[in-house]
Amino acid sequence: MTEKKPVTNARMEAIISLCKRRGFIYQGSEIYGGLAGTWDYGPLGVTLKKNIENIWWKMFVDDREDMYGMDAAILMNPAVWVASGHVGGFSDPLVECLECHKRQRVDQIVDEQKHKKILSRLKSTSFNKEVLDKVVENISGSPYEGVEDELEFDFRKGVIEKHDEFEKYVGESMQSWLNQSVVCPSCKKKNWGVPRQFNMMFKTQIGATEDAASVSYLRPETAGGMFVNYKNVLDSMHPKLPFGLGQIGKAFRNEIAPRDFIFRVRELEIMEVEYFIKGDTWQEQFEHWRKEVWKFIEAIGLSKDKVHELEVADADRAHYSKRTIDFEYDFPFGRKELYGLAYRGDFDLMSHQNASKVNLEYFDEETKERFVPHVIEPSFGLGRTILAVLSEAYTEDEMAGEKRTYLKFSPAVAPILVAVFPLLKNKPELVAKAREVYAILKNELGGRVIFDDNGNIGKRYRRQDEIGTPYCVTIDFDTLGENPGNKDTVTLRERDSGAQNRISVGDLSIKLKS
Ligand code: GAP
Repeated sequence: MTEKKPVTNARMEAIISLCKRRGFIYQGSEIYGGLAGTWDYGPLGVTLKKNIENIWWKMFVDDREDMYGMDAAILMNPAVWVASGHVGGFSDPLVECLECHKRQRVDQIVDEQKHKKILSRLKSTSFNKEVLDKVVENISGSPYEGVEDELEFDFRKGVIEKHDEFEKYVGESMQSWLNQSVVCPSCKKKNWGVPRQFNMMFKTQIGATEDAASVSYLRPETAGGMFVNYKNVLDSMHPKLPFGLGQIGKAFRNEIAPRDFIFRVRELEIMEVEYFIKGDTWQEQFEHWRKEVWKFIEAIGLSKDKVHELEVADADRAHYSKRTIDFEYDFPFGRKELYGLAYRGDFDLMSHQNASKVNLEYFDEETKERFVPHVIEPSFGLGRTILAVLSEAYTEDEMAGEKRTYLKFSPAVAPILVAVFPLLKNKPELVAKAREVYAILKNELGGRVIFDDNGNIGKRYRRQDEIGTPYCVTIDFDTLGENPGNKDTVTLRERDSGAQNRISVGDLSIKLKS
């Protein structure tokens, strides 16, 4: 079942290795050789994940009057996915290497080859210049020269996805073009099968019979559960427009080439808002949610200069979207999509109304109008958020003449906020006092506090640095009153600077909460 994990780069390898070594993230089903595109969160990873989820939920559900939480089922009536367009169109272009039998995404293997060959071929006499001019005109209205980027884009996103139209443009079949131009990234040979569209939904069987009527799907996105419950929320909570639903949950996509650690996986988690509005307010609502996405980025401690907005071109937008901005992040392996903000028009509610024959109109009591609301959808991949937070936090420096590796998490997301140590583990009076301070902090800070007496103090600091604990508290003989002026004070060490200050036990919680 395993596919070889694509090699990324040294920084990524260091992050993956730290995640495994320190209990953040493990390869799924590892003792059986793994299962590609699946990852398991260990004790620290699950806490990091929950901290991020809690910030999201507080910001987008709890702190707002116009938002309602949801947790819909993963299995849904398959008619939902027909109406949403996923059964018909949630697909990637796929080609099988006839030598090593690995399947590859056509857009990715061509992307990796930088399209040089297709471009030079297009410019050669074998290509129909009239068609090319038409393609270019449709893209930008500009002349052929100097628009190679757009041309590459068009061929990657447009023509290659419609592989059956490839021959019309290029003058030969995509299979024969691939066989001349593109080597298999796995076995380095050039012997491709016929490309075909591959639906990425995971099919499953409901009940005991295995026939067409029992087919269902693991949801490919969380949005569907919110659209089909829009009317339930309307009837039970009686919200006024605009209002929204927020949900955090799993989604499943049979990605052909899962890659880059938790960046592209088959079992993913999405934190998503479906915000229902009057159609003529979409621009102001889109702007509102654009700012909200930036607020979240700030709240989890990502640097704003590593996040970039990309206005998604018409040809590249999902079938339901009338406008999309991707928020891209500078991951160690390049700038890639982190979040999406889409204006979905009334596509979803209209489609479900037509397919289910249930009236999904909203009645506006003030204007006495009935209409189907439009939707703004900010969508946040949870795994990608975690990867961005990890990539940004991973730091190597030197402290006291020694190389150290640490995770510079913001206190809001760090799995452990504070570690409590007795200076020496073989002095019962130090251990007892440290246990007392630990219990106070655990109670006042609500978790995220650990007790550690393993190894010497220097080793404990390194271990906490490596898992990103912002503060360490040490109980020493001064705490016990050896120096009366320091009785009931502890040393508080800060992770990034290594600075240590004395602080009274009574002031610790307030300082750590700030
Ligand atoms: N409801 C809209 C929707 O699902 P999407 O762009 O397909 O939109 C939403 O997915 C977010 O989920 C993306 O912005 C990305 O953060 C994350 N995502 C998508 N596919 C993923 C995958 N295979 N692995 C990890 N995260 C993924």
